Order: sequence, then C-alpha cells, then structure tokens
Amino acid sequence: MLRRTLPRLASVKDRVAGAAKSAVKGDEHFPALKGHPAARVHAREAAEKQAGLAAAEEEKKRGGKAATVKEFQIYRWNPDAHGRPFLQSYFVDLGTCGPMVLDVLQKIKSEHDSTLAFRRSCREGICGSCSMNIDGVNTVACLKPIDTDTSTATMITPLPHMYVVKDLVVDLTNFYQQYKSIEPWLKTKRPAPEGREHAQSPGERRKLDGLYECILCACCSTACPSYWWNSEDFLGPAALLHAYRWVSDSRDDYGEERIQALSEGWDKLYRCRMIKSCTAACPKSLDPATAISALKTMHQLRKA
Ligand code: SF4
Ligand code: SF4
Ligand code: FES
Repeated sequence: MLRRTLPRLASVKDRVAGAAKSAVKGDEHFPALKGHPAARVHAREAAEKQAGLAAAEEEKKRGGKAATVKEFQIYRWNPDAHGRPFLQSYFVDLGTCGPMVLDVLQKIKSEHDSTLAFRRSCREGICGSCSMNIDGVNTVACLKPIDTDTSTATMITPLPHMYVVKDLVVDLTNFYQQYKSIEPWLKTKRPAPEGREHAQSPGERRKLDGLYECILCACCSTACPSYWWNSEDFLGPAALLHAYRWVSDSRDDYGEERIQALSEGWDKLYRCRMIKSCTAACPKSLDPATAISALKTMHQLRKA
C-alpha cells in the first residue's frame, strides 16, 4: 500500500514544486482556479512551500542540516477514556508526505496512530467533511497547505464552539437540522412545462453563482461569534446562505414564504451582526455575510 502511494505523492510534489517556480510570476499559472481566490492563495502557498521543502531535501542529500521533520500538535479526546482533552504531538517527515494538512493526518493515522479520529471523504474540497481549525483558522484540511516551517509546530483542533464526538470530529446535528429547516429544495406552484424541467435563462442561472458552491463544511458558522452564543436560535451563515440561494432561484415560487419563515422569531436571521467572520473563514471564497444582508433587505422591503 505504502509502495503504491509514495510514487504518486512524489509526482504530485514534483508538479507542485514546478508550479512554484512560476507561481511567483502571478496567478495566471492557476487558470483552473479563476474566480476562486481562496483556492488560488492555497495553491500558490502550497507550491511555494513545497519548493522550499524540495530545496531542504536537496540540502539534506548533500549532507547539510536542513530539517524536514515537523511537529503537529493535535487535539485528542476520547469520550470512553473519561479524561480531559489534551494536545498530542506527532513528528512527521514532510519529505515523505503530500502537500496538504489532510495528507499529514492520513499519514499519522496510517503510520503513527490509528486511533486518531477525523472526517474526510473527497480530499479535494468538494464534500466539506474535513473541516477543522488549523493554526487558529477554520478551513478544510484537504485545501490547506502544510506550513513547512519546521521551527514551529502546527496546531490542529476541532471546529470551535462545537460538541466534540472524538478528537477532531464534532457533532453537526444542530447544523444539519438548521440547514433542513430552510427547506433546501426547489418548491414550485406551477407545474413543470410540458412535464419537463423548469428552464432558466443564463442570466437567471448566473444569480446562483457564489451561492450553489457551498459545501456545508460549517467553517463559517463555527467562526461566527453570534452563532457561538446563540446556535440554538440563530440559523448561522451557512443555512442562511442556502436560504438566500433558494430565494434567488428564478424557478422557485416560495420566496415570500421563505423570507416570512426566516423572520418568524427575530433570532433566526437578525442575530447576525455583520461581523463578517463567516466570509473571512469560507474556504470556497463565498460571502455568506452579504447573502444575509440581502435577506434582511428583502425582509425590510416586504414590511415597508
Ligand atoms: S456576518 Fe453575521 S453570520 Fe457572518 S460572522 Fe458576522 S454575525 Fe456571523
Ligand atoms: S459558506 Fe463557505 S464556509 Fe460556509 S458552509 Fe458553505 S462552503 Fe463552508
Ligand atoms: S475531504 Fe472533502 S472537503 Fe476535504
């Protein structure tokens, strides 16, 4: 298994290191990431750091003292052990690891400690499973490049202000219930024309850009101070971004009712204080704060 995996990782590293040389010239070297600023920053960061790592490995081969072993301090808590949570240190040779934090976690789990618990699935920023807090920032581990500075440790903890199930796994039951409460599906009053799908013009479809891409990772909601203190009542930025997505959909006929439902109980929508931590935290470069602001404006205009 290890033998099959390492050459693939090495080739990824080679490609990334090659990209690093050109990354300094500008973002045009990541054309596939056009329109995804956070992904571009991550790609550039990963490329530059892996190039630095490749240089350190070269120096080591020449007999130099360059270090490629890095410390990762990871939050551990096992409900069955009845102890307090603690940070456990793992030392990983970055020269034998992929470029992202999820690669480190996979390596630790497969080679160092199989008891470490974390969620992951797609490993490419699509499923939203691997959200966690890395060096104080909520993000998805598969899109977060490893900080290759071996003089400092990287700290990995669960998403903040959530109940921990085990280690890096948090309980997202309330988060998903809130998502479900906004009825995230198309609701129409008109029958589908000729029994086919409801059509949209390209302009109507474009209104959903920046909304439909949400992967429900919960990085935004768990970065929101209002959500920390009122998570029972305030729906939080992720659910509200989705509510706005359906209100903005030209095929949906229940915009009025959706906004009415959001404004029943002031806390659901108006607990948002426009602190904008949600937008800063989103690893997909979405802007839930502006979506919430638009929902509030729609509600106020309907009242006027
Ligand atoms: S803008 Fe609203 S939802 Fe976003 S972090 Fe601030 S209070 Fe929370
Ligand atoms: S808006 Fe961004 S941070 Fe929030 S759940 Fe969606 S993808 Fe994650
Ligand atoms: S593993 Fe799917 S988003 Fe990270």
